[in-house]
Order: sequence, then C-alpha cells, then structure tokens
Amino acid sequence: MTVKFSKCSIGDLIKLQEVSIETFHDTFKDQNSPENMRTYLEKAFNTIRLKKELSNPNSEFYFIYYNEETAGYLKVNVNAAQSEQMGDESLEIERIYIRNKYQGKGLGKLLINKAMEIAVAQNKKNIWLGVWEKNDNAIGFYKKIGFIQTGAHSFYMGVEEQIDIIMTKPLK
Ligand SMILES: CC(C)(COP(=O)(O)OP(=O)(O)OC[C@H]1O[C@@H](n2cnc3c(N)ncnc32)[C@H](O)[C@@H]1OP(=O)(O)O)[C@@H](O)C(=O)NCCC(=O)NCCS
Repeated sequence: MTVKFSKCSIGDLIKLQEVSIETFHDTFKDQNSPENMRTYLEKAFNTIRLKKELSNPNSEFYFIYYNEETAGYLKVNVNAAQSEQMGDESLEIERIYIRNKYQGKGLGKLLINKAMEIAVAQNKKNIWLGVWEKNDNAIGFYKKIGFIQTGAHSFYMGVEEQIDIIMTKPLK
C-alpha cells in the first residue's frame, strides 16, 4: 500500500467540497435531523466559504491518498484562523476526516502526525481540537493518541446548540 499527502490549493475547491460534504454527512447523519444537516452543509461547505478558507494564509488543507485514492483530508489553523483564541503557540486541527471505507487503516493517525509536523516546524507548543461530545469514536481515537480534555465550547448544528469538547496534546 502507498500513502501520500498533498496540500490543497484553490484548484482543489470542488474536490475538497465533495469530500467534505460526503465525510461530514456520513459521520453525523444518524444523530442529526436531515433539516439541520442540510442547513449546516450549505453553510459550512459552500464554495464561497471554502474558497475563502483555502485562501487564508493561516489555514492549510491536505488530502491523504491511499493507493492513489483520495481517502480523507485535514484542515489546520494557526494564529487568528483558530476557531477559539488559543494564541500563537497553538495549532488547531479544525477538521480531520477519513472516508468510511478507509477508516481503521492508520490514516487518521498519519493525519495527526502531519498536523504535529506542521506545528513543530512553526515552533508551536501544543495542538488542540474541538470534538462533538457525542462523537464517541473520534473521542476514543484522540484519547488513544494522547489528547486530553481541556475545555468545552458550544456551536450550532442548524438551529440546534451542541457542545464540543476541547482536547489538547502538548508537543515536546
Ligand atoms: C476519527 C478518525 C479520524 C480516526 O481515523 P482512523 O484512520 O479510522 O484511525 P486510525 O486507524 O489511524 O487509528 C489510530 C489508532 O487509534 C485507535 N483507534 C481508532 N479509533 C478508536 C476508538 N474509537 N477508540 C479507541 N482507539 C481507537 C486505533 O486502534 C489505532 O491504534 P494503534 O495505533 O494502536 O493501531 C476516523 O475514524 C474518521 O474520520 N471518523 C469520522 C470523522 C470524524 O469523526 N472526524 C473527527 C471530527 S472531530
């Protein structure tokens, strides 16, 4: 098997949009109403918004490929692009998604390693993320690889207020 990464550019907009919508929908469809899901997908992954995110110098997106197939993606933020004011010594993993059929093959861990590599290269002291309190699978994964809960914040899924747990991993 071969695994590769590629940094996304503006030319990847449509592919990124497709992978983002597919993976978000597959992950959360069973725990959210179709109406809230539709509202969220339109808001979070419309082309104008994604284009802006791809153009932000404080954000980076990466695809991960498994045997030449697009298997998932990562979005990291630093400085003012972080969704909480965590300061200049932190890097946020805002999105980490592996497509269903590629899960459980070590690719999520490789994306975390990629985020850590980027953080270390920029002299960051920790990486952090927000995860929905009901996303037991992701929380189990993050705990397994050394993240600990350091806080919580709320966000809106459509009209429904939901709680994200904030988890952090220090970098040596
Ligand atoms: C969460 C996610 C990124 C993990 O990626 P993955 O490729 O399936 O996980 P990996 O195969 O890299 O697992 C790495 C390690 O974590 C362990 N692990 C994975 N899920 C776990 C869980 N739920 N509980 C405990 N350990 C877990 C694996 O056993 C593996 O351990 P090992 O290194 O000892 O072999 C992936 O399942 C995913 O994209 N889920 C849907 C989207 C999502 O929820 N994203 C997060 C939004 S905040």
